[in-house]
Amino acid sequence: MRRPIIAGNWKMNTCRESAAALIDGLKGEAAESRSDVEVIVCPPFPYLSLAAEKVAGSCIQVGGQNAWHEDAGAFTGETSCQMLKDVGCQWVILGHSERRQINGESDSLINQKTHKALSTGLGVILCVGELLEQREADQTEAVLEEQMTGGLAGVTAESMANVVIAYEPVWAIGTGKVATDEQAEAAHAFLRSWLEKRFNLDVAAATRILYGGSVKPDNAAGLLGQPNVDGALVGGASLKTELFIPIIQAGAASVA
Ligand code: PGA
Repeated sequence: MRRPIIAGNWKMNTCRESAAALIDGLKGEAAESRSDVEVIVCPPFPYLSLAAEKVAGSCIQVGGQNAWHEDAGAFTGETSCQMLKDVGCQWVILGHSERRQINGESDSLINQKTHKALSTGLGVILCVGELLEQREADQTEAVLEEQMTGGLAGVTAESMANVVIAYEPVWAIGTGKVATDEQAEAAHAFLRSWLEKRFNLDVAAATRILYGGSVKPDNAAGLLGQPNVDGALVGGASLKTELFIPIIQAGAASVA
């Protein structure tokens, strides 16, 4: 059985005080003794150490929102996978659509980062997803295929134990326009069959595929109840405990 993951992508939000308060709220209310769902928070880089200290002793894990694919050197403004590990991260989000679109990240760069993260011992949350015009032009599967093929080039079946896929239709991110349960399930089923073809049945059966894009307490149960949806990557709603906790609970209920 695939254990659901509820991950919070805080993006460029919070300050020292609100980051600490958010984690305290999660620890106290929901995540402390939850073994049926994995909870991951991904704060901005400056608060990762603080987050890692705060989650100690709880089952909440910490991830970075991005990383660079070199170990060290003249890469002004970048953060290595080793640094993320050093400050207590277990995970890193790679290939988020905001990085693809705003920062021009290509599948081949994302692939280099994926290899570095995996060899450093970080779990990778690899984001894929189509633009609205691509969906409307019936190109969703072709886009997913291209991003998966590029992002996972050279990754072995064995390494896939440390990779989670996040399907995030770009038109649903931060827009309040969530994919229907059926749209999400269809894309997830496609991704799982892609994993079977590219790797094998075991990898396809074991890999968690998260949905992301305007997940809220009122739509979480429907999405997480789909057979191929194994959790959520949550942006806006991960910044408020009163919204994030019910989503964690929906994740737990989806396996109950
Ligand atoms: P959203 O963001 O939940 O605010 O739509 C999701 C994401 O970008 O990971």
